[in-house]
Amino acid sequence: MKNNFQIQSPSNIALVKYWGKRNNQIPQNPSVSFTLSKSFTTMDFEIGQTNHLGIKNLTFEFEGKTNEKFRTKIIDFLQSVSQDFSFFDHLNLHISSKNSFPHSAGIASSASSMSALALGICQIEENFSGNKLSETDFQKKASFYARLASGSACRSVFPKVSLWGKTPFLADSSDEYAIAFPEIDPIFEQFHDAILLVSKQEKAVSSRAGHSLMNNNPFAEVRYAQAKNHTEKILIALKTGNLETFIEIVEQEALTLHALMMSSKPSFVLLQPNSLVLIEKIRDFREKTAIPVCFTIDAGPNIHLLYPKNVAEKVEIWIAEELHLFCENGQYLLDKMQ
Ligand code: PMV
Repeated sequence: MKNNFQIQSPSNIALVKYWGKRNNQIPQNPSVSFTLSKSFTTMDFEIGQTNHLGIKNLTFEFEGKTNEKFRTKIIDFLQSVSQDFSFFDHLNLHISSKNSFPHSAGIASSASSMSALALGICQIEENFSGNKLSETDFQKKASFYARLASGSACRSVFPKVSLWGKTPFLADSSDEYAIAFPEIDPIFEQFHDAILLVSKQEKAVSSRAGHSLMNNNPFAEVRYAQAKNHTEKILIALKTGNLETFIEIVEQEALTLHALMMSSKPSFVLLQPNSLVLIEKIRDFREKTAIPVCFTIDAGPNIHLLYPKNVAEKVEIWIAEELHLFCENGQYLLDKMQ
């Protein structure tokens, strides 16, 4: 068996948002994301097989230091799926992980790290059993386990555009794993994502708590219907190169996500004054220049500025000259779809 190996897995940014789930990480609505290229986790797996330490004794390092919080999270997840991986009990496992992007930078580190972990355990199983799955089956399986670790992580297994959740629009879509959406118009290839760091503070509410607040949100059913509709529309827009529809949906999704947080009980506001300033500036710039930029936002205050690669030079001059003034310490990150 191959004892040591390395997995690299990217983060992703949702265009249609997953917010609300049923038991066992089944999403209330489908979601669509761009897989990022520069924001990824590198995870090293070192495996000993002889003693009987078992999964509870795995050792874990994050960016060169032991990290008890992450170690516990990994053990909890591995134990929750241990009935499917009987070899766990005979493993002496050391994992070390690092991210290519800074902490609390508005990039979902759970997506990249949990997809790396899921890919890793599927790889260990393959090495142990000698049963090699086809690439598609391997990805499907890794996406299934990534979902159980962190919902949005299941989308990170696929490059470019991922879809997670059942939609009548695509027969092979599933609530249990993500699939690749390969049919994208050239205008969306390597679509850029500049992450404008309004604040690097830890978010006040975990996504787990946020999802569960949807259970009593008075707008929940309308929201799930809207997201289903947005999913179908954005997939058509991605396929046909319809930037106008893309922009409309992406911005509505971002603002709806925050409206849902503001209307839950208890409610919470994660946007900061500079998030709103940036939203205004982005819309204003789009109107004045006709350059197709738009924003999306995750569960935090930072703004993801999305734009096609053919306008990247102009947009990045604007960021460097003006937008960075509204970022904490002028910080922003330039990434793009894989
Ligand atoms: O995967 P989770 O449980 O961290 O939830 C992700 C939620 C959002 O990032 C706000 C939306 C999404 O679809 O990624």
